[in-house]
Amino acid sequence: MKIHVTDRAGVTHDLDAVEGWRVMEIIREHGLPIKAECGGACACATCHVYVDEAWLPKLADKRDEEEDMLDEAFEVEDNSRLSCQLIMDESLNGLQVTLAPGIEPE
Ligand code: FES
Repeated sequence: MKIHVTDRAGVTHDLDAVEGWRVMEIIREHGLPIKAECGGACACATCHVYVDEAWLPKLADKRDEEEDMLDEAFEVEDNSRLSCQLIMDESLNGLQVTLAPGIEPE
């Protein structure tokens, strides 16, 4: 399984993905710049990504916690999601996301 992640410089990285992992964890494990400050507890919004439109219908709906965190995030778009709330499975093989601004570690 793979996911495709475009960084802030516009470079797309093809990352090996593991079933059951959070998309945030996959991005972090491959060393891309994602702060993910709260470690996946849906409490920081520093794992914000933009999801390619074609993939949006395949994602599980946002829970209230994710909606609330996105309300406080920067530069939120209709295709914004918190990548710690996206759990990898076969249906997301090939998922394309772009890292949002402001989530790089300092
Ligand atoms: S890692 Fe904190 S909300 Fe996703």
